[in-house]
Amino acid sequence: MRVPFYDIKAQYDELSGPMDAAVHEVLASGQYSMGAYHRKFEEDMAALHQVNHAIAVNSGTDALRIAMDALGIRAGDEVITTAFTFVASAETIVQTGARPVFVDIELDTYQIDTNLIEAAITPRTKAIMPIHLFGQMADMGAIGDIAERHGLIVIEDAAQAVGARQNGKPAGNFGSAAGLSFYVTKNLGAAGDGGMILTNDDEVAERSRSIRVHGMGRQRYYYDHLGYTSRMHEIQASVLHVKLGRLSEWNEHRREIAELYLRDLRDAGVALPITLAGNTNAWHQFTIGVDRRDELQAFLKERGVDSMIYYPVPLHFHEPYATYGSGEGSLPVTERACREVVSLPCHQHLSLEAAAHVVVCVREFSKSRITV
Ligand SMILES: Cc1ncc(COP(=O)(O)O)c(C=O)c1O
Repeated sequence: MRVPFYDIKAQYDELSGPMDAAVHEVLASGQYSMGAYHRKFEEDMAALHQVNHAIAVNSGTDALRIAMDALGIRAGDEVITTAFTFVASAETIVQTGARPVFVDIELDTYQIDTNLIEAAITPRTKAIMPIHLFGQMADMGAIGDIAERHGLIVIEDAAQAVGARQNGKPAGNFGSAAGLSFYVTKNLGAAGDGGMILTNDDEVAERSRSIRVHGMGRQRYYYDHLGYTSRMHEIQASVLHVKLGRLSEWNEHRREIAELYLRDLRDAGVALPITLAGNTNAWHQFTIGVDRRDELQAFLKERGVDSMIYYPVPLHFHEPYATYGSGEGSLPVTERACREVVSLPCHQHLSLEAAAHVVVCVREFSKSRITV
């Protein structure tokens, strides 16, 4: 049985009628930028996330970068985050001129270890950027308390957490701003790139909207800020608008797959992911830990099962980021996770039968290791 890691085309096959109609409507309208779909998508996402403002931009990377600019993060500042994430989290911090300060993660949840944050705070610390990795939120209660005690800003990297909640509250309600990603492979994926800033702060929203379009003020061709060209394309907004209607059912299906894995891999000799108490996990990835990870991956491949490694190398090992870290051994849990993690297929169009096949293969691998 062939089990692909993603099936983006299946999303189109499911929604080709309304998607084709929406895209053609945009093309025929001549309104290719910031039109009706853009406005509607922003309104619907603000309502879904229970925030005052949702600002659609070109990518999740731009969402983080623009949010940090709007929050006044500048050269000389320090931003506490983790090195077990997609590069954009630290990349955008560096682009503002600030310095990422990496703290270690917790094994099994892969979230920032909140017990280590206070030791990393210095007089230059301006913000904490928790990464809601693999579809569940970091412990925002603990992070909020630390931020309040030390007068720090919180920016949520919620790129992987569209649809995730903590104690019933969605991302974007915990910090000063959050960045979402609609990259193709995300739970809610555009037909290309897309992202969004969520905030309850009117001033941050106004600055973000301005920075999104070159820093333009209320009056055309008058500039208040240094900005970018980062409008979400209307065609992307139309695709996302159609897919948004399916998001909660799609995430529910991911949950079903994850529950099947959690149940049937319980005694399979692999470390299963833990969801923090109070979290509704959006299951962007289902990530397990195995000491002979590369062997498992090859074993699965031979049986038609694709898997992915998020992330094989911690950020502080990469040349552009090494200068912000303290070298090998400085983040032992992060480094161990990079050696042991492997993500199994977990998406909205994966059948339960395919997921059961994945389970059989993982169990077969574990058994073969015990008897060898
Ligand atoms: C944790 C994290 N942050 C930021 C981003 C950046 O989003 P985008 O690819 O839309 O620029 C991603 C995307 O993969 C991500 O996974």
